[in-house]
Parts: sequence; C-alpha cells; structure tokens
Amino acid sequence: MAEQENPAELVDLKLRVNGVTRSLRLEPRVSLLDALREHLGLTGTKKGCNQGACGACTVHVNGVRINSCLALAIMHQQDDITTIEGLAQGEALHPMQQAFIDHEGLQCGYCTPGQIMSGVACVREGHAQSDAQTREWMSGNVCRCGCYNGIVEAVRSVREAQG
Ligand code: FES
Ligand code: FES
Repeated sequence: MAEQENPAELVDLKLRVNGVTRSLRLEPRVSLLDALREHLGLTGTKKGCNQGACGACTVHVNGVRINSCLALAIMHQQDDITTIEGLAQGEALHPMQQAFIDHEGLQCGYCTPGQIMSGVACVREGHAQSDAQTREWMSGNVCRCGCYNGIVEAVRSVREAQG
C-alpha cells in the first residue's frame, strides 16, 4: 500500500514508460515500483519482497533489467522504462510471453511479469547460452510455485528461435 503523502514534500517529475511520457507529483522517496503501480496504474509489475530479493518487480531501464523496488522514480526521469505492459505489440504477445504459455512457465502468475522481463533481458545479454547459464542469470527471480523447469524451457525456446 502506498504510504500517506505529505503535500509539502511533493515534486513534479516525468517518467517515460512504454514509450509514453507521463507527468507525476510524488514525494522524492517514492520507488520506481510504487510510481508504476500506485501512481501510473501499471500493476503488471509486481511487489513481492520490496527489498530486492525476489525479482517480481523487474523492469527494463534503457534495456537493462533492474529491481524497480530498489530504484527511486525521481532518478529515472531521463530514461526509457519498459514494463510488462510494454512488451506486446497490440494483440500480439512478445515471443517470451508466448513461450511462457507454451512451456507452462507459470502457475499463480505472480512472479511471471518479472520472470518474463528478466528472461527477455537474459537472452538479449547473451546469458541464455545454456540452461545452467539461464538458471544462474535468472537466479534473482524467485518463483514460489516452482515453475523453474518451464521458465528455463521458455527462455531456451526464445533463444533458439533467435538463432
Ligand atoms: S519486489 Fe523488488 S525484488 Fe522483490
Ligand atoms: S508462478 Fe506462482 S510464484 Fe511463480
């Protein structure tokens, strides 16, 4: 839940999220995760631990994956931020989204947006050359349902499709 705001401490800022620049009035201490979820209504990005341990809040900043719970929104005004809502092209799912469905990489789905954002970045980084490497470089994304085999298969299939 968002903490109560003190109007005296609010600042104006802009965030470019999924290609759209949005204006916000926030306390400077608001995390990027809370700005996305509580202030921009982009609830695809999930809050698990809120302390950098689970990866549920993974988003891309300038193409690099980060834990948005550990970032201050105010520090990312010059950046391109992508959330899970920004992956699909209209009705067409991103290949990683489709692969998670095809390979049953989810059960409850709570960790899934973060897993998918991390999986996309993992392939882009070249860190999905083997299943072992994928597991290592996705180890910051925790799944309480234990869907790791399906997740690894999904990431492998996207990496193989990209050649
Ligand atoms: S909510 Fe950010 S790492 Fe867990
Ligand atoms: S699918 Fe339930 S936590 Fe991962």
